[in-house]
Amino acid sequence: MYFSESKGFPKDFLWGSASAAYQVEGAWNEDGKGVSNWDTFVRIPGKTFQATTGDKAVDHYHRYKEDVALMAEQGLKAYRFSIAWTRIIPDGNGEVNEKGLQFYDDLINELLKYNIVPMVTVYHWDMPQALEEQYHGWEDRRIVDDFVNYATTLFKRYGDRVKHWIIMNEQNVFTSLGWLAGMHPPGKVDANSIFYQVNHHANMAHAKSVLALKELYPDAMVGSSFAYSPSYAYDRKPENAMAKADHDDLQTFYWMDVYAYGRYPRSAIRYLESKGWAPKLEPGDAEVMKKAASMIDFMGVNYYQTCVVEYNPLDGVGASHEMNNTGKKGTAKVQGVPGLYKSPQNEFLPTTDWDWTIDPMGIRMCCREITSRYDLPVVISENGLGAFDKLEDGQVHDPYRIDYLKRHIEELKKACDDGCRVLAYCTWSYTDLLSWLNGYQKRYGFVYVDREEDENSGTLNRYKKDSFYWYQKVIESNGEEL
Ligand code: BG6
Repeated sequence: MYFSESKGFPKDFLWGSASAAYQVEGAWNEDGKGVSNWDTFVRIPGKTFQATTGDKAVDHYHRYKEDVALMAEQGLKAYRFSIAWTRIIPDGNGEVNEKGLQFYDDLINELLKYNIVPMVTVYHWDMPQALEEQYHGWEDRRIVDDFVNYATTLFKRYGDRVKHWIIMNEQNVFTSLGWLAGMHPPGKVDANSIFYQVNHHANMAHAKSVLALKELYPDAMVGSSFAYSPSYAYDRKPENAMAKADHDDLQTFYWMDVYAYGRYPRSAIRYLESKGWAPKLEPGDAEVMKKAASMIDFMGVNYYQTCVVEYNPLDGVGASHEMNNTGKKGTAKVQGVPGLYKSPQNEFLPTTDWDWTIDPMGIRMCCREITSRYDLPVVISENGLGAFDKLEDGQVHDPYRIDYLKRHIEELKKACDDGCRVLAYCTWSYTDLLSWLNGYQKRYGFVYVDREEDENSGTLNRYKKDSFYWYQKVIESNGEEL
């Protein structure tokens, strides 16, 4: 839509920033923490860029007070962070670890001291390794009860102070990379039927956790965060428009429809049945999913890029099981599903050094689609630019990041004008952190952390980048001064 004047962002808009436990905390074996699937996976040779681990990460576990003080100085309104399941219940389903609970108590209290709203992610990919060993983690239905027990432990402990909860982070990503691409734990390749069953278990874990939270705290705000990459049909050829419809049902609505409607897209299920990959539901699952869907308060969106969809013949390109994790631009490959679709690059849009398409308008597309299809409020739970940054004389000049964020916020503002109810915008990330497969050289933060890939490198000192001061003004002016 076009509006000659903008109404701007709502008054109580939450200007935030985000992180995840494994990527920032470090202290991987301290204070009773159990071993996670990621602690194990990163030790397999060849899995991560230059064998980087989150053992020390950016040492947020010990420096959280300094990090929160920087947030306060910047004027941050909300901080989204995740809790490490292995700190709370080290082996996934046994004893609760009081020291782990205490750490997040302290973090939450520190945030509240400065009036920063804590936004808690229950699961950001780090699962207790003990559950992998007991029953192969997400592959077994037993994980649903163990997950809900873990989530409920958090709700009970922090629910008096935490109002915003994100149950799952990017279920589409951790399951695709874990069971199709082999790049995340447990590192399986093309395990299609397991992949859909794993997703069903995660959906049940999400749904039952939503119900558990609402039982304890009916006023809590809850949703899950989806890695949403809106798609464009390659051109006006009808077969490409149909490829887009197939892609959207299998790659997007397959998750968002479950969160918002409590059911799988019908055509996706027909396709999966024809392949023998459809998930098996237990009696009562459909009702639980529906009930939870009626109770969610927002759709969480992690937005980084859009994609292009083109018809892919039966003898066409498949999955490459690779990605550009070196930062050498132009090394990513076209991937697809034979008989359905493939995703070529968009020649109209620039890319980052890691070949991620830069498309600010896509963030507005996310909000519009969610508003039209589900009529739900939106929390932008991640958006940001991974780039090489340089520390020189204690300063980091990152105009490229400022430009990236500015153009996305401009589009988000338009989404608000369009009538989308956007509640929050969290940049990824607050401090620099471990970028899972890409090491520490792919930096996202407002705050530079002095460390490189080598575990013994750097002082871990914090430096405010130019974007830190820029976002401070954005927050102060409620998004007017960009
Ligand atoms: C999202 C994740 O996929 O994108 C984050 O929720 C992640 O944890 C971020 O760090 C950026 O991805 P990457 O691979 O560049 O670290």
